[in-house]
Amino acid sequence: LMISISAIDKVIENMRSLHINCALAAISGGVDSTTAAILTRRIIGDRLRAVFIDTGFMRLNEPEHIKEILRAVLPLEIINASDRFYREMLGLSDAEEKRTRFREVFYTVLSEIAKEYDCDWLVQGTIAPDWIETRGGIKTQHNVLEQVGIDTASKYGFKLIEPLKDLYKDQVRELAKSLGVPSEIVNRQPFPGPGLSIRAVGELTLEKLDVARRATDIVERRLGNMGLSQWFAATWEYDTVPSSELSRVVNGLGDLHVELFSIRATGVKGDARSYGHVALVRGYPVNWDVIYELHKYLATTSDVTHVIYELMGRGVGKYFVSIRAIVTDDFMTADVPRLSREILMDVAEEILSNDNRISSVGFDVTPKPPATIEYE
Ligand code: XMP
Repeated sequence: LMISISAIDKVIENMRSLHINCALAAISGGVDSTTAAILTRRIIGDRLRAVFIDTGFMRLNEPEHIKEILRAVLPLEIINASDRFYREMLGLSDAEEKRTRFREVFYTVLSEIAKEYDCDWLVQGTIAPDWIETRGGIKTQHNVLEQVGIDTASKYGFKLIEPLKDLYKDQVRELAKSLGVPSEIVNRQPFPGPGLSIRAVGELTLEKLDVARRATDIVERRLGNMGLSQWFAATWEYDTVPSSELSRVVNGLGDLHVELFSIRATGVKGDARSYGHVALVRGYPVNWDVIYELHKYLATTSDVTHVIYELMGRGVGKYFVSIRAIVTDDFMTADVPRLSREILMDVAEEILSNDNRISSVGFDVTPKPPATIEYE
């Protein structure tokens, strides 16, 4: 897969014709935003100002780590806006409400910085799947504005430069390599802009964010060398009701019972968004392979978007943690790899023994579709 040189040449030529005095780049440390900024920097040099907005929803030590990796190629200024995000977002529960509020706060903060630096352009790493899915109404990605009719010049005081907007992830990685982007960034797994705010599923609280942050750290470390495309933890209250109807559906596959969580999670059915139930399957399957088939029984027969198999529980603690691991080329669809039971049990045990607020740990067995990769 080769991106055509002429497509990138055209982007560069376009940028040259814009007469940019100052462009602000919001860097997340992911390959998209970093590559967009480094490409722009090649053209406008120090007239590019790169900032990292610490939203308070980042992973453990993330801002400092990114600044350090990029030190030689892209000087970064870290701007701590976490109080602002917490003030605006704690207490929200609905997935799309979180996402649209995040977008609003994020760009308001950026518009203030742009004003201070007298920048009237914003460089961002929006890629094709971001706007395709946002426009398709599946999820509001934080970095899609023009494509959903938001006029950034009048609303925020800057125009957008999106040099990667027609590329897919693997093409961006190829371009990144050719631009000398550090390999840790080129190969970094995607992390959504709203970060842990959408992995602390349901009502957003500081405690839930902390549980998600610590569990994510364990999952990222433990599953880091398995060739996965994305792997993380998400958390929500362990609050379920049994579903005798769904338990009947899995009857015969082992001694299995199905419960439904009180939170909702996003899925895709056909081309449309669904915001359905999350099923928790407990008990002993006739064999481990059955686990990976459970979604075929449950997610197609009801409004269940995600199916999770409980790995290990201890009955005390407020939170449930779900381990998510997927493989994909384009992030528009994704499969769940068949990880061994031993590895998953090991990770579950480490998560439980590190945080006594967690009652139970499960493994999400749902591909996309019918699930999406994130829960919200
Ligand atoms: P979903 O959950 O839609 O995720 O299947 C597809 C890919 O996109 C990432 N993602 C985001 N990235 N801003 C981003 O920059 C967002 O708002 C956002 N939401 C999801 C997700 O992590 C996955 O890689």
